[in-house]
Parts: sequence; C-alpha cells; structure tokens
Amino acid sequence: MDDGGATLNLGDHTLDLSAVPARMGNHGVDIGSLRAQTRTVTYDPGFANTASAQSTITYIDGTAGKLTHRGYAIEDLANSCGFLEVAFLLLFGHLPNKAELEEWQASMNRHSLLNEELKRFFDAFPKQAHPMAILSSATNAISTFYEEYHNPKDEASVIESAQRLIAKMPTVAAWAYKKSTGFPYIYPRNDLRYVANFLHMMFALPTEEYHVDPVIAKALNVLLILHADHGQNCSTATVRFVGSSQANLFASVAAGMNALWGPLHGGANQAVVEMLAEIANDPSASTESYIARAKDKNDPFRLMGFGHRVYNNYDPRARILKKFADDVLDRVEGDDPLLRIAEELEEAALSDEYFQERNLYPNVDFYSGIIFRALGFPMRMFTVLFAIGRLPGWIANWKEMTEDPATRIARPRQIYVGEESRRFIPLHQR
Ligand code: CMC
Repeated sequence: MDDGGATLNLGDHTLDLSAVPARMGNHGVDIGSLRAQTRTVTYDPGFANTASAQSTITYIDGTAGKLTHRGYAIEDLANSCGFLEVAFLLLFGHLPNKAELEEWQASMNRHSLLNEELKRFFDAFPKQAHPMAILSSATNAISTFYEEYHNPKDEASVIESAQRLIAKMPTVAAWAYKKSTGFPYIYPRNDLRYVANFLHMMFALPTEEYHVDPVIAKALNVLLILHADHGQNCSTATVRFVGSSQANLFASVAAGMNALWGPLHGGANQAVVEMLAEIANDPSASTESYIARAKDKNDPFRLMGFGHRVYNNYDPRARILKKFADDVLDRVEGDDPLLRIAEELEEAALSDEYFQERNLYPNVDFYSGIIFRALGFPMRMFTVLFAIGRLPGWIANWKEMTEDPATRIARPRQIYVGEESRRFIPLHQR
C-alpha cells in the first residue's frame, strides 16, 4: 500500500493493515485486527520486530550509532548538562529554564530523606545481600509510606512520586552499600547537589570530614546521563508492562529494576569487569582464548559488554565512555590493567570475522564498569548505578504510557504447542 500500510493475504482473508508512521526510523503496520479477522497471531520471540508503543522520548538510529533524547544528541547532553537537567527533559519533554531547574533541584533535596522506619528494613538483609535486591525491595517498601499518591491518573501524585523516587534512590543505594560494609548510614545533605550528595552518602564516615572530589562528581554525572534512557529496552518495557495493569509507579519501577539486574541487560557492567578480572588473574588466559570461547557455539560464554539488539554499529555511549575511561583513569588513579585488557579484547573482536559478520560492537556496559571502579565503587554496585541513571527514563516511559489513550493492559498471546487432551489419572494410580 502506498501510505506505508500493507495488504496481507492469509488463507481466504485479505487484510488491509494501516500504517503507523514514524517521524524517524522504522514505520509500523497496525496488526491490531489480525486475530479477530483471521484467527491468526504474530510470533515474535523477544519482540525483536514488535513496537509496543509510540513514543516521543528517545530515538536510536542503530545503523548510524546515534542516540537522542527528546531530539537532543546524547553527546550534547553528556557534555553540557547536569543529570537532573536530563531527568527533567525526559520527564517533561523540554530542557528546564533556570527557575524550573532550581525548583526541580530543591524538590530533590526536599525528598531525599528516607522514613526512619526504613532503617530497620536495611538491617533485615544479610550483609552479603546484593544491592540490586535491596534496591528493588526498598522501592516497593517506600511505596507503602505514600499510598495516597498511587493513583496513576492523578498527575500531581505522579509528579510527586517521580520526585520522591529520583530523590530517594541515591539514599537507598548508598545505604545498601553501607549495610554491606557495616559502617553507619550517612544522611543526605541539602547543601549538596544530587551527585555530590550521593557520593557523600556512599563514602563519608561520621568520624571525619569528607570532601567530594569534583572530578569524580563530574564523571559520575556523565555516566548517569549516558544511562538515563534507551527506548523500549528490557527494563523499560517491563516498567510499562507492569504499569499497564495500573500498578503504581513504585511497583512498576521495582519490577524494572529486577529486569535490569540480569547479566544480558544492566548486570552486564558487573559481568564485564568480572570477565576482565578473570582474564587478568588467569596466567593461562589470553584475549584470543576468550574470543575463541565467545565464538564457540558449544560454550555458553559470551563476550560481555558486546552486542546489542538495536545497534549494529558502535554504541554511541560506549564511544563516549571509551574516550572518557582514559581521561578519568589519568585523573583519579593512573592506569588500570583491566582497561588495557578491555582495549585488547575490543581490538581482537572488531577485527574478527565472527564479530564483524554479526555487527557486534562494544555496548555501554563494556567500559562503564572500569570507570565506576576507578571512581571507587565496588563491583556489586555497578548495576545499582545503572539503575539510578535509568530511573528518569523508566518514569518518563511509565508517564507516557499512562497518558497515552491507546494504552491497554499488556497481554501478549501465545502459540500453544502442549498436550491436547489427556485422561486424568488419580494420584494413587500414578
Ligand atoms: N558474544 C558472542 N556472541 C554474541 C554476543 C556476544 N556478546 N552477542 C551476540 N552474539 C551472537 C549470538 O550468538 C548470535 O549468533 P548467531 O547468529 O550465530 O546465533 C548473534 O550474535 C545475534 O545475537 P542475539 O543473541 O540473537 O542478539 P540479541 O539481540 O538477542 O541479544 C544481547 C542482544 C545484548 C543480549 C547480546 O548481544 C548479548 O548477550 N551480549 C552480552 C551481554 C551484554 O553485553 N549485555 C548488555 C547489553 S547493552 C546495555 C543494556 O541494555 O543493559
């Protein structure tokens, strides 16, 4: 069809599928009436060909390796903005003016404390608890203090909940870390900006002065911006999916955190550094042997931090981070042998046919962990840092979903391939 739609011939049926035009990138065809008219459904494991929403938040050109938020290039945002500015942009669709930004920052200070009762919540976890488990549990737990703000249709409640979530997440993350060390929890301070406040809660001790290193704060600001949103990735799609049942924002975001934790998604940043450390610590290992393992279809090993569903080019976030890694290491701690191993691995992979044929390039997680490490964060906190960064993106998508009149409860079909009909055998005869 000329308008970008399609005509589908299926058995006796001829179906006109109308176009869903995109401003940029893949256009869609609306298959909403397919099942009703033909008793057929589409089959698309991993939703690789399925657009579940129309969105105005983030655009990724996977072939050119470009990423924009609300039309602004990620490079410009990472170079010139504070993380809260980008969070505002994602949520409200425009860059804040000075007054808006000041009020937005003030709201973060206003909401950064956790209810004192939540302190006991942290105490209940074992010392070795993974901080991602604490983060998602705490997000649900926080929701219990604000039940009167749960109505997804009440805009003021949604904004207030968004502010609470973004403001409290650094406190939760830092306390999850303190819990693992046994040191006292450090309270947020209203004289510090968002990123500095987080670093203070993470690394200060009540016994001595702690000065936030501006180099570290600046680097973390850039890292958070680079993680702020990325279209319909696994965790964001999960947030929308859960939210489509009209579950509240906290519950939806907690679900997204659990999706992020997996090593194929945000958990990859921890997995990359574990992989690099394994290579560094194994005298018999070489980058070649790891590349060979990644190519071996009988070996479940994958080169962590490589490949992406949407990019068949270099991930622009990884491009920024690769340059940034050297810079940050120079300024904070000198050389890191893991960075050299990562560079060797990248070079070997990019000149290897297997990776070339499949368009496998470094993704955001390949260099981020090395930088988080240089900034002083322990490995198990890496995915938590990703979560703090991605939080505005999750919320912006949830908000867009709840405001979209086309939203229906997410409920995919299945193609049933199990037993047809079996004669029931009582327990005593089995
Ligand atoms: N190492 C070795 N082979 C790979 C890799 C890898 N990292 N990634 C993909 N492949 C191969 C895969 O085996 C397949 O080969 P073949 O066509 O012969 O079967 C082909 O490339 C296509 O891969 P796929 O698994 O069908 O791709 P996908 O879009 O379903 O998965 C991915 C994307 C990111 C899960 C995958 O590339 C991967 O597992 N990467 C490693 C984990 C990782 O770095 N995740 C972070 C993703 S980016 C940030 C984020 O979203 O959190």
